[in-house]
Amino acid sequence: MGKAKCGHCHFAGLFNGTTPPQYRESEFDIIGVPSTNKRPYKLDGDLGRYNVFKNDELKYAFKTTTVRNIAVTAPYMHNGVYKTLQEVVDFYDKGGGAGLGIHLPDQTLPDDKLKLTKDEKKKLILFLQSLTDTSAVVHFSGQLPAIDNSASPLNKRIAGGTD
Ligand code: HEC
Repeated sequence: MGKAKCGHCHFAGLFNGTTPPQYRESEFDIIGVPSTNKRPYKLDGDLGRYNVFKNDELKYAFKTTTVRNIAVTAPYMHNGVYKTLQEVVDFYDKGGGAGLGIHLPDQTLPDDKLKLTKDEKKKLILFLQSLTDTSAVVHFSGQLPAIDNSASPLNKRIAGGTD
């Protein structure tokens, strides 16, 4: 929602690519994902949404995907061109495909450079990492830490509380 503007597409609240206020439908955007992460950058040849609707405006448009659990679901983009979140953030920082010099007049992602500092990029990646669902791997302790006095009723407390 700040300088990086990721929330313009990966909307806050759910961060799963659906659009507020109902969070039922997804958007499609043209961001200019390249075929490889090497110069000279070329647009990936997949026509995306156009393949389904044959509407010129949808050429190279892809569904705005969820960024939940993104730290554990590499590689990234429809063709898996980016292996790390650092590469993804660098791509956006440069203004997507058009910012990399790819001719893409219909890019819906603004091609302005975000000019994120190293620290801002680091914080953005930390934020993305915070979207990892750990509920299946976190184990809750069955007991609370005991205190030295063994007679204390505090040692009889049950994790999760009592009625
Ligand atoms: C103009 C809309 C738009 C903006 C702004 C945007 N994204 Fe995306 N994002 C997309 C679309 C569309 C895709 C899917 C592209 C594809 O699959 O080729 C995507 C894909 C991603 C992916 C890869 C998801 C996966 O599972 O492969 C990540 C990570 C991501 N975006 C993070 C960000 C971050 C971080 C920002 C801000 C710096 C950002 N996005 C800004 C539209 C946007």
